[in-house]
Amino acid sequence: MVTDLDARARAILTGNDRGGYTVPTAGLYPFQWNWDSAFAAWGFSTFDPDRAWTELETLLAHQWPDGMVPHIVFHRDDRGYFPGPDVWDTGRPVPTSGITQPPVAATMARMILAADPGQAGRAAALVPKLAAWHRWWMRARVREGVACVVHPWESGRDNAFDWDGGMANVDGSEVGTYQRRDTGHVDASMRPTKAEYDRYLALVQWGRAHGWDQVRMADEGPLLVADPGTCFILIRACDDLAALAAAAGVSDEGAGDMAHELRAGLGGIWNAEAGFWDARDLRTGAFSGILSAGAWLCWLAGAGRPEMASHLARAMDNVRYALPTVDPTLPTFEARRYWRGPAWPFYNALAALGLRDAGLGAEAERLRADTEALIRGGGFYEYFDPTDGTPCGGKDFTWTAAIWLTWAGRGA
Ligand code: GLC
Repeated sequence: MVTDLDARARAILTGNDRGGYTVPTAGLYPFQWNWDSAFAAWGFSTFDPDRAWTELETLLAHQWPDGMVPHIVFHRDDRGYFPGPDVWDTGRPVPTSGITQPPVAATMARMILAADPGQAGRAAALVPKLAAWHRWWMRARVREGVACVVHPWESGRDNAFDWDGGMANVDGSEVGTYQRRDTGHVDASMRPTKAEYDRYLALVQWGRAHGWDQVRMADEGPLLVADPGTCFILIRACDDLAALAAAAGVSDEGAGDMAHELRAGLGGIWNAEAGFWDARDLRTGAFSGILSAGAWLCWLAGAGRPEMASHLARAMDNVRYALPTVDPTLPTFEARRYWRGPAWPFYNALAALGLRDAGLGAEAERLRADTEALIRGGGFYEYFDPTDGTPCGGKDFTWTAAIWLTWAGRGA
């Protein structure tokens, strides 16, 4: 049965469709974003499977020769976004950014094929591209056995606490003057600060000055932080790529081995003193010491631990709507500032996939029911205040609509 909200969610996906790719939301994010696009594909698979495959195909069509799949593809010019293609200056035929984003595409492709098994051929054609991207991760971002980011945007959790330690050592004082565009679309109190933005730009300028040499960025660049969220997503993506390849009848191109290798390195992000999975600045070796949202994805990679289950219970007990993106009992928790507290519907969907597979069905259902309530109460917003459900950020958001159709709106 198609409900009014289902119809609204479909209309958001089709309304944000720019022809072969979907923008996260009109205005604030007017291009194709990597992991948003993978979620969009999952959403489309519920009513237009052909369009779902196209979304993934378009994303991978802009893969770099070294295997990287960029975090933004600037299909068309749009002055409403900063930093645009002229700032990145990556020299790609269709301009892109010069960093990547969490590799959820293989996980989404596997679910899309399960829903549309007749398309093994299209899935088979994606496997080598996804495998090349995962190998790129191993070569250009896995250091000391763990997946790292060289820019906070690469994690998809832009202003999370995870990067504060590393970013303190990034000099943002020389970036020159620039005009932000994000704060013209949404309230500045919900967005990263100016000091954070200066450093984001300094990292972009470093990459550009070094010809976007991805290995060099990891080995010599200003920032290198081991990211639990990306580690768990990449492990899961390698497992899912192996399964996708098997279902499509093609070689997994070493995906299973990559998953194995990454699991062996996970000890590098276990903060034993604090008792949780934690981001670690590889330039100094220091853990962040703050329980942040990346840790909530441990179950996706089969890396749940008893300590994490009790952290999850405490976090859920301390907000009305799970999941907060930082431990809500900390004084640093900010209920409405982006990745420093708010609940994100798409992230809940991802965390719930892991919880379900780990046998934590009650927790997964709490996430689903809370996400359903947030969307029913506030609409298809980018994220929400987890204490009172206030909708925040951009509206008519693609991945919020997508996970409504695939998960949040599908009942217990
Ligand atoms: C923000 C989010 C990131 C997302 C992008 C587009 O930068 O932090 O995860 O991909 O917006 O929605």
